[in-house]
This record gives sequence, C-alpha cells and structure tokens, in this order.
Amino acid sequence: MTKTITVIPGDGIGAEVIPAAQAVLETLGLPLIFQQAEAGYAVFEQGGDALPPATLAACETSDAILFGATSSPMTKVTGYHSPILGLRRHFDLFANLRPASGDGIDILIVRENTEGLYSGRERVEDEGATAITERVITENASARIVHMACEQTQRRRRRLTIVHKANVLKETCGLFRRVAFDVAAEYPYLAVNELLVDAAAMWLVRDPARFDVIVTTNLFGDILSDLAAGLTGGLGLAASANIGVNRPALFEPVHGSAPDIAGQGVADPRAAILSAAMLLEHLGFADSAAHVRQHTLATPHTGQTSHTTQAIIRRLEEEYHYV
Ligand code: NAI
Ligand code: MG
Repeated sequence: MTKTITVIPGDGIGAEVIPAAQAVLETLGLPLIFQQAEAGYAVFEQGGDALPPATLAACETSDAILFGATSSPMTKVTGYHSPILGLRRHFDLFANLRPASGDGIDILIVRENTEGLYSGRERVEDEGATAITERVITENASARIVHMACEQTQRRRRRLTIVHKANVLKETCGLFRRVAFDVAAEYPYLAVNELLVDAAAMWLVRDPARFDVIVTTNLFGDILSDLAAGLTGGLGLAASANIGVNRPALFEPVHGSAPDIAGQGVADPRAAILSAAMLLEHLGFADSAAHVRQHTLATPHTGQTSHTTQAIIRRLEEEYHYV
C-alpha cells in the first residue's frame, strides 16, 4: 500500500541531509509518495510562524514525517516556538526511540517524550531569585512508554533495564518505577532489571555491551541517549524516532542545524539516512530498512554530503539490484 511521507528539511544542514535521505528512499522502488513542508527559524522570520498551519495539515494527511533540524535561539524570542516540540505535542508522539550501535554495542534507549522535567511547568518566585520547574510523572504516560519499551525488547535480545532515581526522587521516580515493574510483569519472558541513573551512566561507559533496551523518563533519556550516541560514532550516526498511538510518526537525526558548517556541503548525511531506515521499518518495509542500515553503517563519511550519499545509493543499487 502506498505510504505518504511529509518531508520537513528545516534550517541549516537539515536542508542538506534530508534531501540526501529522501534520495536514498527514492532508490528503493517502494510505493512512497513525498510531500515537502516548511518549518524553522527562517520560516518564522518570513511569516511569523515556525510551524505554519499548512505544514501541520500536510503532516495530518501523511503516514510518517521525515524531519531535519531547526535553529532555536538561545534566548526567548516572542512568538517563536520550537517546531519539533510543537510536532511532538500536536501528534502526542510520546515515545522517543534512540538506537546506538557499533563497536560491539547495540542499545535502544526508549525515552518518555511528553512529561517529566520537560512538562513546561516553570515559574520564578522571590522576584526572580528562585526558579522552579515541576517534574510531572503520571501513571498513564509511564505505562505507555514501558509498554512500548517491552514491545521493542521482545523483538531484540529481551533484556530491559528500567532507569530511575527513586532513592532520591521518591514520589516521581517512585511512581515511574512501580508502574514500570507492573507493566514489565506482563512480559514474563523478558529479563528485567533496574539501575539508578547515575550508575547507568557509569555502566554505559564501562560496559555498554551489557545493555539491550533502556526505558526511562524524559530528561534522563535525553542525556543517556547522547551519551550512548557518543559511544557509537557520535552525532553523524545518531538517528531517532518519535512515535505516538496514531499516525504519523516522526523520524529525525539527533543532531541540530549545525550553523557552523551549514551551506558548505560537508554535513554527514548518515544520521538522517539511518532515521529514514527507522521510518521504513515503522511503515512495514523491514527488509529495505535493514539494507539501508547495513550499507549506511558500512559507508564512511568522506567529508562531502553528496559523495557519501552517492556511495550509499551505489551500494544499495549494486547489491540488491534496485531501480
Ligand atoms: P548541532 O547538532 O547542530 O551541532 C553540534 C556540533 O556537531 C557542531 O559542531 C556541528 O557542526 C556538528 N554536527 C552536527 N551534525 C553534524 C553532521 N550531520 N555532520 C557533521 N557535523 C555535524 O547542535 P548545536 O550546535 O547545539 O545546535 C545548533 C542549532 O541546532 C541550535 O539552534 C539548536 O537549537 C538546534 N537544534 C535543533 C534540533 C532539532 O531541531 N531537533 C536538535 C538539536 C539542536
Ligand atoms: Mg537532546
């Protein structure tokens, strides 16, 4: 069945690596339709809206979104809202899946994407001398992220690690931990253990091969997945998926718009291409996804976006006689 993909390149190198990923997808001869849409800081400067309604409308009618990166100012700019946060919220993309593999490491971090310390509930008191962020953890959000993690673990090496800090954060992490073990008990054939987040960081560095799937709350997942990316080739290879209950799911490289190298044609396209492979798998094209992943990981980045992309496309065409 034909699948529709909304392509949002965004700012900076997003506009270089996403066309590369689309070119790889187009070599595969799959029933995919692409529609282009805009988001980001440049769009905000032109029209006052970083995530225009037309873009949301395009996403509504698609099966998946391929998203590059957008530039967010470091300070508050009135009227500017981060498009990726807006898309995650709009489509309730509660699960952030971030794989890290290579050098004997094969880890999937499943990060809760909607609450925790990123609940957006921040305020200042004492005339600005005290700043407060509320860490919100709910049973519903915890249960659905752990279900997602268990489903993923079933398809892998069947080892799930629940990461929290319940010894200190007794209420919030205590709730997450309780719900996580309750949900995991529904999957009796998984090996389930737990680690405090600080110990998890240490073990990720000391012995990453012991991990299969990690499930954790929003901020911990954000930090640990960057750590895992750093162990396995860095930002040039770090891909991610944002998945909700309904379509569309969103796929994006972990890196940002990289203004320091934008416009030079030197960005590593492989993180975007690996994100496209996750998209293929999600849409049910598992064989093509595996081929793209294998050939992308086997192709070094030569320093030129177009050369690396062409090398990956050539490998795909030669070995699998696509086109
Ligand atoms: P960044 O990921 O854009 O860049 C960090 C460093 O890694 C830079 O030196 C960059 O040149 C390098 N780099 C990143 N991706 C690369 C690639 N594919 N090939 C080669 N080198 C690469 O992170 P940074 O500098 O913190 O943020 C830049 C902008 O991106 C900011 O405006 C930030 O808000 C935005 N950003 C957007 C994200 C999104 O839209 N999802 C995610 C992260 C950052
Ligand atoms: Mg991050």
